[in-house]
Amino acid sequence: MINEVRPNYDMAIETGEGIYWVGYNYRTIFHTNPYLIVDGDEAVLIDPGSSIDFFAVRAKVAQIIPISKIRHIVLHHQDPDLCGSTRQFEIAIGHDIAVYNPERSSFFAHFYGIKTPVTKISEDGHKLKFGNGRILRFYMTPYCHAPGAMITYDEKTKTVFTSDIFGAFNQKWELYHDWVGEEKHLETMKMFMEPYMGSKEAILSVADKLAALQIKTICPQHGSIIRSNIPEWIGALKKMEYGKALGEQVKWWR
Ligand SMILES: [Fe+2]
Ligand SMILES: [Fe+2]
Repeated sequence: MINEVRPNYDMAIETGEGIYWVGYNYRTIFHTNPYLIVDGDEAVLIDPGSSIDFFAVRAKVAQIIPISKIRHIVLHHQDPDLCGSTRQFEIAIGHDIAVYNPERSSFFAHFYGIKTPVTKISEDGHKLKFGNGRILRFYMTPYCHAPGAMITYDEKTKTVFTSDIFGAFNQKWELYHDWVGEEKHLETMKMFMEPYMGSKEAILSVADKLAALQIKTICPQHGSIIRSNIPEWIGALKKMEYGKALGEQVKWWR
């Protein structure tokens, strides 16, 4: 797999049936991965990105569909690196949409100028149903890393969009983790996860929820997509040590 031909990262890339990576900025050590799910005549934008990402992400979306096809935006928690462009997308889309956000996180949404009344998610299994029947389900992941945080599971492709969970800093970025290499990807994931996730208890609760789902692909908001050895990667989550920003001395990114 490591020798597979790489796609053109200037283009939106289909990573599953109707799922597109619409990110960019892959030359830096930390970047975001917005995703677009298209089915029938509608589309869902997942963690669209920051305000400075807007023009690049909009251009990637426009490679796949007219922007007006977006009917839903999912914001997995409250951070600017995923919520910051939401108001710009509302304006560009030009019609009413639905915005989904964890209830605890939704108190912050209006600070981004988001005008859509937010659909507040507070329970596991809450459904987002496409007109043609495709179902996305939300699962709460409190304290991973925000108190109000969730992930999204696509039943059709068995893809889970995990936001910051399984996120990674990348010394060398590739779209798929097996192109980075299992060992190297684990190392770069630890650099992000161990200081940014505060509590092992919180992660263990997420690991239990993930283990109960049939998962083929993990699409995080930072780092690379994981498309093999899923049980091992959930196992790796359980073994990491969290809260490492406490007493952290080495500022390796300087
Ligand atoms: Fe975050
Ligand atoms: Fe993030």
